[in-house]
Amino acid sequence: MAYSTISSAGADPPPGGPARPVTVLDFARRKKAGEPIVMITGYDALFASLVDAAGVDAILVGDSVVSVLCGEKTTLSATVDQMIYHGRLVCRGAERALVIVDMPFMSYQVSPEQAVRNGGRILKETGAGAVKLEGGADFAPAVEALTRAGIPVMGHLGFTPQSVHALGGHRVQGRAKGALEKLIRDARALESAGAFSVVLELMPERIAEKVTHVLSIPTIGIGAGSHCSGQVLVLHDMLGMNESFEPRFLKRYAELGAEVRSAVSRYAEEVRTGAYPGPEHVHKS
Ligand code: KIV
Repeated sequence: MAYSTISSAGADPPPGGPARPVTVLDFARRKKAGEPIVMITGYDALFASLVDAAGVDAILVGDSVVSVLCGEKTTLSATVDQMIYHGRLVCRGAERALVIVDMPFMSYQVSPEQAVRNGGRILKETGAGAVKLEGGADFAPAVEALTRAGIPVMGHLGFTPQSVHALGGHRVQGRAKGALEKLIRDARALESAGAFSVVLELMPERIAEKVTHVLSIPTIGIGAGSHCSGQVLVLHDMLGMNESFEPRFLKRYAELGAEVRSAVSRYAEEVRTGAYPGPEHVHKS
């Protein structure tokens, strides 16, 4: 099934407007209309409600949760149960944004049947609207099986964090001879298998532009330049909470890491000097 052939009813509300939920059909319409798609990661209900109110189109419950929140060096340890837990939290906080949950390492690589079993659990137990999985043509049968089962799938090409060991580390992809042709083959295979969108991670802008151009489904870039159909960033990175992470593509929209350190050290100082709690914070009777 190709999502790009189905048109959506009604228009999208403006950011922060009425809460008609965003669906996978809106992704196709957005690409056709040339309207950029805004995606951001989310791992819990509180942040999900904040980014939803800010008007993002989609919240990705990325398996990056295990690095960003749990301190792991890679995403490989993420489990289906963890993704379901965080997916459920995000769905509680999101009213309008489409919630997409990552399928973790080894939850879909074994067979299309395994993919459907785990993808089905994720949709059933979280309330999310779609799943994302990494990889190209090799995983087209899994994407096809999921799509046939009514589970919308977002693909993920370029730097695929679950293959960090095979790729030799965090490296920009698509530069090698023949890499563009392979990316295009992979992207087309995902589209033909029914993926409604594809994340393009860490690749030169001109490569992402070409992949975007040959697809009718939208591409969502991260470190892939300005010609993708939309962008995604890891929320905690763009808020400046992960202060040691400074890749070229990242723009920090806040410096919450510094804010948190400053606020907590002021609190510590005031507790130690007796300035907190003040009379205004005390129940007198
Ligand atoms: O897990 C994640 O957060 C992701 C994004 C970086 C696209 O896959």
